[in-house]
Amino acid sequence: MTSLSASARSCSNIAFIKYWGNRDDALRLPANGSISMNLAGIETITRVEFRQELEVDQFILNGALADAAATRRVSAHLDHLRKIAGTAVKARVSSTNNFPTGAGIASSASAFSALTVAAAKALGLDLEEAELSYMARLGSGSACRSIPSGFVEWRPGLDHVSSYAVSIAPPEHWDLVDLVAIVSTAHKEVGSTGGHALAPTSPLQDARVRDAERRLDECRRAILERDFKAFAPIIELDALMMHAVMMTSQPALIYWLPETLQLINAVRAWRGEGLDVAFTIDAGPNVHVMATAANCLEVEARLKQQPGVINVLKARPGAGAHAVQA
Ligand code: PMV
Repeated sequence: MTSLSASARSCSNIAFIKYWGNRDDALRLPANGSISMNLAGIETITRVEFRQELEVDQFILNGALADAAATRRVSAHLDHLRKIAGTAVKARVSSTNNFPTGAGIASSASAFSALTVAAAKALGLDLEEAELSYMARLGSGSACRSIPSGFVEWRPGLDHVSSYAVSIAPPEHWDLVDLVAIVSTAHKEVGSTGGHALAPTSPLQDARVRDAERRLDECRRAILERDFKAFAPIIELDALMMHAVMMTSQPALIYWLPETLQLINAVRAWRGEGLDVAFTIDAGPNVHVMATAANCLEVEARLKQQPGVINVLKARPGAGAHAVQA
């Protein structure tokens, strides 16, 4: 092998039923299942070249050499794939996000799903979707949900090979829009890997996990039946339960800003007026405002008038990760 290369493209995703806390931190086996939607247009493109002459892996992010910690994480992920291929050859990885770094959008889901697909192809591994999904999970849990297309469910599974995500509906199934109201672009102090490890220190985590199957059933049904009236309360409850766990961890993780709470209240008031709109929030202060396509322009205009909203990104349901011509 002298030079084997491939490229892949993958969307980020937003979880409606959240993944927070692991049964096994090293393998990223989740404490509960989760449901998400891929975000079209919020994407990473990654090229991987395995080259005999390299002594170490190189990682270039958005055109600049990445720091040591990021390079180590990419390298550790490549090791999992090299092990399957039975090779030790090093790689040059070049990754570009089409959304600005520090825009308040998490990139680990699109990053590790694109990296998995590109590296597997470059190594000549012919992996099925489920295999790509559980391999992506090792890099970042939520990355396993960016492998299948559209609306996706990650069943927690019992071990490494049974913990992967599957599509429950294609992107065109439901014309939902995620309007991401950006209120801060600051880098978060505690990232999700550290956050998952703290989840068991909250006395609320057990209750959240115990009730997860019910919320998954309710959310899955609402998506399959395109029932926004049922969808809105269950995704809001789930996000609030995750943040209740975060806020009661030791040490406490408080990701909200005053603007976050203002948006929560605004979205609830707008739904009271009859708009199909609901919020969800990841490990940060920005608010993902879900709306039906029919309400999208109205909601976007209202969001832009809210104090503290720096920008509103818009994403419809997206495809799964796939190889592309470099
Ligand atoms: O995949 P990670 O380790 O970045 O965790 C993602 C955690 C949340 O975004 C807060 C929830 C989720 O299910 O995506």
